[in-house]
Amino acid sequence: MPNVVVIGAQWGDEGKGRIVDLISEKVDIIARYQGGNNAGHTIVIGEEKVVLHHLPSGILREGKVSVIGNGVVVDPKVLLEEIQNLRLAGYKADRENLKISDRAHVIMPYHKEIDKGREESCGNTKIGTTGRGIGPVYEDKAARRGIKVSDLIDPDALSHRLREVLPDRNLYITKVLGKEPLDFQEIFGEYEAYGKELKEFTCDVSKLLNDSITEGKNILFEGAQGALLDIDFGTYPYVTSSSASSGGACTGTGVSPTKIDSVLGIAKAYTTRVGEGPFPSELSGETGERLRELGDEYGATTGRSRRCGWFDAFAIKYASMINGISHIALTKLDVLSGFEKIKICTAYRYKGKVLRDFPSNNHTLSECDPVYQELDGWNEDISGVRDVSELPPQARDYLDTIEQSTGVPLYAVSLGASREKILFLNEIF
Ligand code: IMP
Repeated sequence: MPNVVVIGAQWGDEGKGRIVDLISEKVDIIARYQGGNNAGHTIVIGEEKVVLHHLPSGILREGKVSVIGNGVVVDPKVLLEEIQNLRLAGYKADRENLKISDRAHVIMPYHKEIDKGREESCGNTKIGTTGRGIGPVYEDKAARRGIKVSDLIDPDALSHRLREVLPDRNLYITKVLGKEPLDFQEIFGEYEAYGKELKEFTCDVSKLLNDSITEGKNILFEGAQGALLDIDFGTYPYVTSSSASSGGACTGTGVSPTKIDSVLGIAKAYTTRVGEGPFPSELSGETGERLRELGDEYGATTGRSRRCGWFDAFAIKYASMINGISHIALTKLDVLSGFEKIKICTAYRYKGKVLRDFPSNNHTLSECDPVYQELDGWNEDISGVRDVSELPPQARDYLDTIEQSTGVPLYAVSLGASREKILFLNEIF
């Protein structure tokens, strides 16, 4: 088994948790490398549904080590609650199978305050963030006023750092957002306690991962969000604030590109997006509503309803170039049963011209119309199918067209949330 990066190839919510859970059986270590608890990974095991926001999805597999890399931003309160809940549900989450980078940055109360305050105050231009403080914590990291896990677990360092940065953040909260300042003692008391609890999990994660590779162990790098939400290559400014692309796996863990062998992209059989921003293949009418209901398209983190649209092969082609996607795992094909016609967006038209490349400018993108290829749908319930050959011919045609229009072969197709509802088309591991 190679060292593989698993990323979302769309705007997040592709079902990465479900695929990571499946593949994690074949690896030794599962490492998350970016984002924070803005993510929501849902995994169904038997009758049980587990939603993870912070922990890598691999934590549900026995005998595996789960890692939170330096590129992740950690909300200690949420992380500790998640650890506690998993333990109550009978899963193991201790210093043996969970490692947190001491270089990861910490989401502080003022980050959440600023995130929410900004969204409230900017009306039409809001991003539609998850309100978890993600933008402000990455901003502080880049501005060199962040607080790292290594500070959190050392009360002197925490006190020192908080005294340095809080006045500046309070100035923003009071003068720009017009809100009450946050209190040093209150934050320090609460976060010092979190630091004590998290200390046992922390280590130099890059050393751990590189040593493990030298010992012959293999790693699955688990991306959060999706390629089109990446800070550099996504639909900026309607993006998250981290490197959700495969390149983020290197900067977010300290493992070099020469040690990574392949990239698996996860894509839904249609497209969804939460929050604001352009979405050329969006369906605003009855068909979009139908996809939302059939696909249960409501956010695992915020509960917001997801915008729905047809599969966008043009965007996936772009995502595949940026990320070096070698194969795609397609999720939720079963949701498309019962549609008389199904469309695939194969290109964008801008001011009457068909574009060759995915636009880098948000304004251009928001004025693009989708160019569709229309296919016949199928009526059969396919959720019980266990071999590709049993799929209706129209469904197989749909899969072939996805491969042709994206230029990427399919690795697997999932037909439902539970572990066994998956068909493998190619053996890549
Ligand atoms: P933030 O990451 O909370 O700053 O939100 C920025 C944008 O990314 C918003 O449009 C969010 O809805 C979106 N976003 C963040 N995390 C996820 C995710 O895990 N799935 C889907 N969208 C997300």
